[in-house]
Amino acid sequence: MPIQFRSGECIPLEMHKVRMVQRLNLLPVEERVKASQEAGNNTFLLKNRDVFLDMLTDSGVNAMSQEQYAAMMNADDSYAGSETFYRLESAIRETFGNVHFLPAHQGRACENIISQTFVKPGQTALMNYHFTTTRAHIMRNGGKVVEIVKKEGLKVKSDLPFKGDLDIDILRSEIKSLGAENIAFLRIEAGTNLIGGQPVSMANTREAVKIAKEAGILTVFDASLLSDNLYFIKTREKEFAGKSLHDITLELGTLFDITYFSARKLGCVRGGGIFTSRKDLHEAMLALVPLYEGFITYGGMSVREMEALAVGLRESLDLHVIEQTPMFVEALVKEMIAAKIPVVTPAGGLGCHVDAMEFCEHLPATQYRSGALAVAAYIASGVRGMERGTLSEDRNADGSDRIAEMELLRLAVPKRVFTLSQIKYVADRLTWLYENRQLIGGLKFTFEPRILRFFFGRLEPLSDWPQKLAEKFRKDFGESL
Ligand code: F0G
Repeated sequence: MPIQFRSGECIPLEMHKVRMVQRLNLLPVEERVKASQEAGNNTFLLKNRDVFLDMLTDSGVNAMSQEQYAAMMNADDSYAGSETFYRLESAIRETFGNVHFLPAHQGRACENIISQTFVKPGQTALMNYHFTTTRAHIMRNGGKVVEIVKKEGLKVKSDLPFKGDLDIDILRSEIKSLGAENIAFLRIEAGTNLIGGQPVSMANTREAVKIAKEAGILTVFDASLLSDNLYFIKTREKEFAGKSLHDITLELGTLFDITYFSARKLGCVRGGGIFTSRKDLHEAMLALVPLYEGFITYGGMSVREMEALAVGLRESLDLHVIEQTPMFVEALVKEMIAAKIPVVTPAGGLGCHVDAMEFCEHLPATQYRSGALAVAAYIASGVRGMERGTLSEDRNADGSDRIAEMELLRLAVPKRVFTLSQIKYVADRLTWLYENRQLIGGLKFTFEPRILRFFFGRLEPLSDWPQKLAEKFRKDFGESL
């Protein structure tokens, strides 16, 4: 909740208290250099014991409530027809409207099912912006992805409150030039991940869905980052200031033909699911659930997680629950701006996104600016962020790097996990790094997987710059970690 201090300063006061904790470890800077080397200079490969603040992602690491933990004890383990499934289905219907629900083990499993069912070779999926696993599944099924986010969405600095919105004119012209029969579906992603956790507005979503439906094109909603997006619709879109979060969710839940989500994000557990109000679409996808996931009443999820998800979905309609991440992101973005660090604006959900294109403009794009920044940030702070740039792209057919439109270091802010002093620590160390950015050097691959290389590829620095950075840290901070 925003609270004003006597000084006039406004802070995002935590509306929860911590009742279970995980001990953290902050290694000395020299050991951080070693840990990064051992991890192939890929933050995905760091051992968590070597990480101080894990800001890699919010996926599956959000704090759960005592009500969620309590619900886990009430799970029904039956392979088929579990009571847990029916409780979760009721929670989905209560939250999103009268829909058919298919459980899956996580978000990308839903993408597999949806892509296998609805993408025919040569077809195009139109979307505001891709997510890595989404595009991989569409392409695996012979499809193509065309992104139609508004041009402004790809600008690092902007005042546009809904940078995830689609360009409606381009949507119309793509439908005309491709022909509706060659379009697998229109997919809209809430809280558009790869462009900085930027929300979509209800007005734009309504319009885009209407155009697609009139053309007979299937509409798909990725609601993984819905909580943050709900907060922004409520606080940034005038029409909804007086509406409840439940009203907004119900409208979104019934707008699309198909909605899917990663419950590692939405609902703060580990799982996923697809729902649709159309019986024919439900039937078309149903058989793939037991084939890839598990029986249709658990879909690869633990029943305990499903019970916690039912509670988590209801809790995601509580403003005090969902506001914590966007407000902490805003606090971090503000501190970064005060230190002149280039970051994506306006503050979105999910995390603070540092612009590596500018932060590391002294490096050529082929030396992986945002990957190098992720390594440097870990060395400077023990904070693990995630590269969201050229490294996260696969190569072009001719073997050259596909240079990303945005080079970002994402510092994710999982829901209700960190304290404000930890957020301030991140801003302080990133400020030091920005002042010493010329010391950051490039990276090159030593092991490069062909698909989704960012997950487990290994890299090495092009010089001894990590050691030089650590020496400077020691000089400036003395004995302090
Ligand atoms: N869609 C979006 C918008 C996502 O952010 C993610 C995951 C997925 C789909 C896939 O879901 O991980 O449960 O299979 N994003 C995570 C992240 C991995 O770190 O941002 P999943």
